[in-house]
Amino acid sequence: MAAVKTYLALVCLTQYCLCSTLPENRFLFEKVLIGVERAAKFFSEDYSDLNVDGLYGLRLAEGQIIEAVNECEKKDCEEELVDTLRRLKEIVSTTSFRSLPYLQEADADYYRRFLPVIDKPYLLEYTPHRFHKLDEVKIGTYDDYEEEYGDMCYARLIGSYTEQGRKIPRCNATNDCWHFMTKGNTGRYFITHQLLYFVLAEHLGCPHVFDEFTNQTNPREVLNRMCKNIYVESTKLVENGSVDEMDQDLFLEQTVLCGSLGYEDFQRPDWMRMVLKWQRRDGCFAMPLVAEYLEKESTGRKLLREAAMKDGCLAHKSGLGFSVLATYLRYLVNTL
Ligand SMILES: *[C@@H]1O[C@H](CO)[C@@H](O)[C@H](O)[C@H]1NC(C)=O
Ligand SMILES: *[C@@H]1O[C@H](CO)[C@@H](O)[C@H](O)[C@H]1NC(C)=O
Ligand SMILES: *[C@@H]1O[C@H](CO)[C@@H](O)[C@H](O)[C@H]1NC(C)=O
Repeated sequence: MAAVKTYLALVCLTQYCLCSTLPENRFLFEKVLIGVERAAKFFSEDYSDLNVDGLYGLRLAEGQIIEAVNECEKKDCEEELVDTLRRLKEIVSTTSFRSLPYLQEADADYYRRFLPVIDKPYLLEYTPHRFHKLDEVKIGTYDDYEEEYGDMCYARLIGSYTEQGRKIPRCNATNDCWHFMTKGNTGRYFITHQLLYFVLAEHLGCPHVFDEFTNQTNPREVLNRMCKNIYVESTKLVENGSVDEMDQDLFLEQTVLCGSLGYEDFQRPDWMRMVLKWQRRDGCFAMPLVAEYLEKESTGRKLLREAAMKDGCLAHKSGLGFSVLATYLRYLVNTL
């Protein structure tokens, strides 16, 4: 930790003296690094209040930080930077590990069902990709996600689904789940849940689960279509450089899911600066109208259950915010 601080102190010093000569990317990189460090510190001090959804964000962040370390080692970053990233990685994996018993205690049943979703970092295949012909995209209008049905499809992948008293082996997909999860004209949380289904299949190690439905066409095509649609949706959420508070959680979800798969249109400096502004100085992400938000949430999604942490911080939003900053960090490492 001390070395992280030293490095950051140096960063701040050099920022002041070299501001005008620093390339813009370097400046942004350092801001993002400070954001990631603050978020890591926040969670390392408050992991007992995490919920399953908060840890899901932390695991996404952990994966991105691991990749940032790898990228940095590959391209011979300065030693100090590699050390800082390695230390961040340690902090996050220790925090994730330590939070597990608290999650189990809070809701043993939910914990057991979703353990494979949160028990390790998300290391997803990163294929750099840029979108073309965005003006052809029609944003999906169908956003009434059928959560119970979707959970059944997730459970089949996870291996926690039972049918007529029989437990279905993990990595199971049915024709109906495939159609539900690839259905067109979906938007908002419906399409992010569809994408999450494919992310989970990869995370859980089910590489051939969709072979019978894709007929040898590149399964990545499905992801390309979804993230292209999601990207256009994200751009519509941003108005005059900001996103309505009620939609910030959605925006973060969109960015981390697509960003960690390599959809680099999401890595926009203006969006990075915006998300950094949402983060509080203590590293968390919150919302002034928490109560109203939680009330709305309680009618909704299980895999996205929000919970209040200390001082009005939100577990799910903070986890997602952290993971989004980590996708930025991983991306920017390559621009140094
Ligand atoms: C998935 O589970 C269903 C039963 O719900 C079964 O009929 C099907 O064969 C399974 N698919 C695979 C690939 O195991
Ligand atoms: C896959 O190909 C077979 C034969 O070429 C065809 O009958 C079937 O409908 C195709 N399935 C899908 C999901 O495209
Ligand atoms: C956009 O933001 C600027 C600066 O914050 C403000 O002056 C302007 O009124 C805003 N425009 C709209 C349409 O909200």
